[in-house]
This record gives sequence, C-alpha cells and structure tokens, in this order.
Amino acid sequence: MSSTVVPERVASETAVSESKPAVASTNTLAAHVGTTVRLQGWLYNRRSSGKVHFLELRDGHGQVQCVMGRNDVDEATFALADHLAQETSIEIVGLVKAHPKKAGVFEIGATGVTVIGKPVGEYPISPKEHGTDFLMDNRHLWLRSKRQHAILRIRHTIITAIRDYFDGLDFTLVDAPIFTPNACEGTSTLFETEYHGDKAYLTQSGQLYMEAAAAAVGKAYCFGPTFRAEKSKTRRHLAEFWMVEPEVAFMDLDGDMELAEGLICAIAKRVLETRREELAVLERDVGKLEAIKAPFPRIHYDEAVRLINAHRAAKRAAGEKNQDGTEIADFVWGDDFGGEDETVVSQSFDRPVMVHRYPAAMKAFYMKRDPADDRCALCVDVLAPEGYGEVIGGGQREDDLATLERAIEHHKLPMDAFGWYLDLRRYGSFPHAGFGLGVERSVAWMCGLPHVRETIPFPRMLNRLSP
Ligand code: 4AD
Ligand code: MG
Repeated sequence: MSSTVVPERVASETAVSESKPAVASTNTLAAHVGTTVRLQGWLYNRRSSGKVHFLELRDGHGQVQCVMGRNDVDEATFALADHLAQETSIEIVGLVKAHPKKAGVFEIGATGVTVIGKPVGEYPISPKEHGTDFLMDNRHLWLRSKRQHAILRIRHTIITAIRDYFDGLDFTLVDAPIFTPNACEGTSTLFETEYHGDKAYLTQSGQLYMEAAAAAVGKAYCFGPTFRAEKSKTRRHLAEFWMVEPEVAFMDLDGDMELAEGLICAIAKRVLETRREELAVLERDVGKLEAIKAPFPRIHYDEAVRLINAHRAAKRAAGEKNQDGTEIADFVWGDDFGGEDETVVSQSFDRPVMVHRYPAAMKAFYMKRDPADDRCALCVDVLAPEGYGEVIGGGQREDDLATLERAIEHHKLPMDAFGWYLDLRRYGSFPHAGFGLGVERSVAWMCGLPHVRETIPFPRMLNRLSP
C-alpha cells in the first residue's frame, strides 16, 4: 500500500513543517529510500562497536536497524545513544537505505535521536529465557516481543478471513447477547452472575440466537466472546474464547460440513498468502498449512472408534500399559474422545478430518437424531491435524417441537427459559444447521503453538484473570 493512502502516524500531521523530515514507519520504508525521515517507536535492542551504535527500533509495524556512527552526530547524541535502555520510546531521524542484496530490507543511517519516554527502571523482559508464569504475569509487556507480535498479526488475519468468508457468501452478521438466561452447552461449564436481582449466565454460545436469526435472514453468523467455566487445565481450553457461529436455514448436515470445510481452507489460504513473514518468525512448517486442501475426509463416529481401538490394540501388542500401570482398555462406543483419541484419529489422515454422527447421549440437547440410526446425532466435529484437536463443532438442529421438548426435559433443563427457543419450532419450523469455530484453537493450529494461552491477547484460564 502506498504511504500516501495510509495515515502512518498521528504525528505525520506535523510532517509538513519545513524544518522537520516526514514521519515514516518501518513498513513503508520502500517509499522513502534516499530521503531523511523520522521514525517513532521503542528501542528493541542495542549494541555498539565503540565507534558505531546499532539501534534496533520497533514501531508496531516491524523492526529496522538504525546505524549511528561517531562522526554522524554530535558528541552528546552519540553518548546518549550509548545509554538508551531497552524499551525507551524514541524518535530517530535518519537516511533510509535499501539493503544492497536483500530485497525488502532497509537500514537507517541515523543522524539524530530524541528520547520521548525514559523507562523508570530495567525492562522486566530481557532477551534471556523467562518462565511461562513470569511471561504470563507480564503479558501486557510480553505482547511487544517479535513472537507475540507475529501471533497478534496472524490472529487478526484469521479473524478478517473468517468475516470475509461469510460476508462473501452473503451471510448477515447478527450479534448474540453475552448475558443469557439459559445454558446452551451443558450446565457444568456455566459462569453464573447476578443480573438486577436475577440469575444470569455468561454466554457459552450464540447458537440458539442464531437459530432465531436464520429464520429472519436465512444465513446468519455471530462472532464474539464466549465463556466456559471449564475446570480442566489443558492446552486447548480457555475460560473466555472467541467463536464464530454460522447458522443456515434449510441446510442439512452435508451442507454444514461443506461450509465448515470451505471456511478452514479460506483461513489457511489467507494466512499463507499474507503472513509468510510472521510464520517464519514462529518457525511454522508452512508445508503443513499448504496441505489444508478440500476435500476433507468425512468419517462416521463408528469409524473413528475403530481407528482408536486399532491403535490401542497395537499398543497392547507392543506390551505398552497405561501411565498408572494398568492394562490399556478398548474405547467404549458412546464415550467422548479424549485429546489423545482425537490425535489418533487425526493422525490417520493428511488433512483435517470431519467426524460425524456421534452418539446423541453425549451431545447437547438441541441436536437432531439421525433418522437412519436413532442412537446417533446429525452432528460433526472437525479435528485438526498435528494434535490440535477439535476446532469446529456443529450439526443439524432438532426441528420437531415435541422431540425438542422431550430433549429439554431429558437434559433436566428449565422449560421456561426455552419458551422463546421453542417458538422457532411453533411458527414455521424449518430444517437448519450450523457450527462454531473456536478462534484460539485455529490460531494455535495456524501458528503451530503448543498451547492456546498465547493465541489471545489477554487469556482467561482456570488460574488466570490478570493482567
Ligand atoms: O463444540 P462447542 O462446544 O460447540 C458449540 O458451542 C456449538 N453451540 C456451536 C454451534 O454449533 N453454533 O464449541 C465450538 C468450538 C470448539 O470446536 C472449539 O474450537 C471451541 O469452540 N471451544 C473452545 N476453545 C477454547 N477454549 C474452550 N474452553 C473451548 N470450548 C470450545
Ligand atoms: Mg464440541
């Protein structure tokens, strides 16, 4: 993008004054080669040969090396530059030079530096290794690091790709509420809160509201934070995470799987097209992302169980035991998959796999039964490769009033709270389906991160509410 279109900095308003050079930023240097500019940012790193200072400046867009020779500046400036502390906010004036060999790499021949904000003491995060707890406690500062910067940018790209995908398919964004009177995904993970003398819950999912929206606009999606009081401490669970939830009128499970497959391909494509630099910072194996291509295999839950049991049988044959020394037992039909089971299933394929028709008993109340096998629900989970597990959960919804009422009773949910939801079956009931994609698990997968805690700017987990 040309620097004339993008407002580079607030301070660029002052760039017109004759005495001061224009303000540039590290991502627009190509347009300024051969001219003297001002750069505003923070000192990321500094080294010196005695005769030359190398000041690495980061400005939120990227980084650039500013080289200041003893003869380029007066004595006081040279001395000042020799004592700048990490994360001092500064303005550098200098000549933009293109790297003689490397395209897209620039250097600044610094002729001046002004301190804008001097740190009160040593910056807590030094280039040395720090423990995870320490970094998490300093998350507000940790975000400035190269690695976190790359993750923030990729997260942004994923969110944009998601919006573009649904907008491109003529979906309407319909916002779901955060305060809700009822559960959507099971009562054990509800965050309860006081609401003007009543009880309310933080939303677990906007799905029920999107079902109402689908009857109004046909194709709806919501995109917002959702909350789960998960007691589990795993690398895939957050207490607060972002979910996109499309819901489509007159769509069945097959259509749902197609929509989910298209979304994941669109995300991977966009990340590969626009975030190569960030993927390199994260040392992500891009081959793994290039392999995300349609069609994704679609397998029945029964087939997934067979894969898991074949794996367990092979382990037994090799003399392996459970961690506690007990025999490895067969997976029982009707159970939900653990993280390891999901990994076993996904490792059988070279791309994401869609597992459909799980046993209805372990799934949410709203799922429609499979007319071909009443024990199963018309649902789907998309399992990502490389052990990233379930990134999408969804399916076709029960559209028969009496069946849905029985399901609500069976799940011991308060019928009153679902009066409005049942109305959707009373007034022109219609087949419909949708799903939810978790943003953080998608970010972890695209970035190749071992834990979801780095995928969201300020994670909320079992033991973390701060910063
Ligand atoms: O499978 P889930 O619970 O499905 C629903 O909430 C449906 N109501 C969605 C729908 O059909 N509209 O959650 C959907 C996705 C999961 O596949 C996962 O990616 C993510 O949300 N997710 C979590 N991500 C981080 N931390 C957690 N605790 C998560 N729980 C679910
Ligand atoms: Mg799920």
